[in-house]
Amino acid sequence: MLSKALSLSKGRVESISACFLNIDNFLFLCYYCQKRNTKVDSMSDIFRFGISLPKDLIDKFDKLIRRKNYTNRSKAFGDLIRQELIKREWHEGKEVAGAIILIYDHHKRELLNKITDVQHDFQKAIISTQHIHLDHNNCLEIVAIKGNPKEAQKLTDNLKSIKGVKHATLSMSSTGKDIA
Ligand code: NI
Repeated sequence: MLSKALSLSKGRVESISACFLNIDNFLFLCYYCQKRNTKVDSMSDIFRFGISLPKDLIDKFDKLIRRKNYTNRSKAFGDLIRQELIKREWHEGKEVAGAIILIYDHHKRELLNKITDVQHDFQKAIISTQHIHLDHNNCLEIVAIKGNPKEAQKLTDNLKSIKGVKHATLSMSSTGKDIA
């Protein structure tokens, strides 16, 4: 069914059955659409296609995206696709971008020195840090990173495991180069 759908791709509007919708086929179609669009000069070129889904599923999807403030399905679908493409970038070890958020009590002995030491060890991956004093005791630090995904994860793990760090989380994003 997917090949049938793709064979129709010369038209501007395509109808594709839901049966292709396992995530790999869906991503393949996304890559295909992206590749196809790069052949066109205009950045605003839009590829339109129809998809068929069970009514119950689309009703739930509509309810979900309304709660998330989306005003149309296209933007919501686009964001889901981007999320999957970004996951794949991390999985495939491409250059990625993201941010680590840390919460810690700066009164803990040697904690600041340890955090600084770890950050110096990963100096190539860190592009910026921001320190915010949340209250008398607690600090929030945002570490912006760009580079190898494994290094980003290792940096997060090393920061998280320092005694006195209350919470550390890695937000995985993309450099945006391969995401339309
Ligand atoms: Ni502080």
